[in-house]
Amino acid sequence: QNEPPIVPYWIPFIGSAITMGLDPIKFYRKYQQEYGNYFTFILLGRRMVTCLGTEGNNFVFNAKLADASAEAAYKSLTVPVFGKGVVYDVHNSVLMEQKKFVKSGLSNENLRAYVPMIEMETKNYFSRWDKKSDIQDVHKAAAELIIMTASKCLLGDEVRSKLDESFAQIFHDLDGGFKPVNFLFDDLPLPSNKLRDQAHVKMRNFFMDIMKDRREKGITDRTDIMQYLTTNCQYKSGKKLSDEESAHIMIAMLMAGQHTSSTTTAWALLYLAARPTLFNELRQEQIDILGSLHEPLTFDAIKKLTLHDNVVRETLRLRPPILNIIRKVLRDLPIPGTQYVVPKDSYIQSVLAVSHRSEGYFESAETFNPNRWIDFDQNNKERDDDLVDYGFGVLHRASAKSPFLPFGAGRHRCIGEPFAYVQIKTIIAVFVRMFDLALHENTFPECDFTSMIVQPKSSLVQYTKRDN
Ligand code: HEM
Repeated sequence: QNEPPIVPYWIPFIGSAITMGLDPIKFYRKYQQEYGNYFTFILLGRRMVTCLGTEGNNFVFNAKLADASAEAAYKSLTVPVFGKGVVYDVHNSVLMEQKKFVKSGLSNENLRAYVPMIEMETKNYFSRWDKKSDIQDVHKAAAELIIMTASKCLLGDEVRSKLDESFAQIFHDLDGGFKPVNFLFDDLPLPSNKLRDQAHVKMRNFFMDIMKDRREKGITDRTDIMQYLTTNCQYKSGKKLSDEESAHIMIAMLMAGQHTSSTTTAWALLYLAARPTLFNELRQEQIDILGSLHEPLTFDAIKKLTLHDNVVRETLRLRPPILNIIRKVLRDLPIPGTQYVVPKDSYIQSVLAVSHRSEGYFESAETFNPNRWIDFDQNNKERDDDLVDYGFGVLHRASAKSPFLPFGAGRHRCIGEPFAYVQIKTIIAVFVRMFDLALHENTFPECDFTSMIVQPKSSLVQYTKRDN
């Protein structure tokens, strides 16, 4: 078998875990230079075949179901957190139907209703930054605000109103189960996993009680996803989505969106803090679109805020929250255009940050420059020629051959992208109305690669309140 070259290592089983873990991007780039786009490293006994560049991305994202499986890679991590009967606990065709349900629930009509809710939550949240100027933790703020806005919009008022009480603890315990060790090992008897399992049952019951209560009271006028899932969703087989499945889908959405969107918001504000002139440009854009900084934000206005959009895109380019996209290989799998074969039971992974930072695709790739996106779509049209509809609808920029894939591609592509953009752009739009920012001690934070989602190691900023 001609498998891709293996990165040398000293300690059996551990393999390259330590060097890779210290600075993954440096690690992948180093071996890309040495071996090209395909190489294997050993991670705690697993063969991780790293597939880089746009061809490598395409190989991972468009692998056939019979060749490579996301559920086999992710289920030890996700099934105990999300629950049975959803996402990676079901056949891929069922997941496709479930994604379609959620995507339909995130209709433009619903997103339209969410913008004023997010605007209000953000204003209320930041009213607590009430000094003229002070130091604050922008990542902590983003995490608190994202869970508030996501629960208000997606999970419902009942969940939002419980956020400061019992729900926060349940979320905290459930989240404690969402960590790399549970990707690597099946259900270890850790205290955190025990808390995770208890929290899962509590959260599911909490959601199911609300569903029951709404049914008894005849409540049908909500714009949240709970409403959509419990009234409108039926599988092709004719079976309706059960309340338990709806509750599990809601947990999955909460977990899929929370750290991804909150770290993106935090990094975006940190990048802005490092470039204070962008604050005036963002405010000017709002004045151009809305007339003044006092007009309420609307879905139509948010869509037109191109610079706000480009700030988010550029943040996602340099700091894609999900670093590795992983599949388990189900049978020996040749890599097209090479002489390599990936052996069965290895893992293939795409590392988005590597193509996102490649000079071949992005000039001055290490520099944060939101304006680069003005021409990008135009120049990259030809790369978007192979869109496939996997059943949950095609979204823009979905081609697996694009060098920019923060939301993935192919059948497992994110369906939360429109919501994430609306949520993060609205938060930024409100934020720049209220504050100017500078980095604390003039230092841009490094990445913490130890958690599931790449976070800033420190996130202190110096804010100055604006007179409105
Ligand atoms: C899938 C990124 C927000 C729900 C994905 C994938 C990526 C991603 C890279 C592909 C995973 C893979 O192929 O293995 C992001 C980023 C977000 C974000 C960067 C925010 C900035 C959200 C939100 C939701 C969500 C807000 C829910 C409302 C999902 C779902 C999938 C997914 C259901 C499909 C999983 C699958 O089919 O296997 N996301 N996501 N995401 N995401 Fe997101």
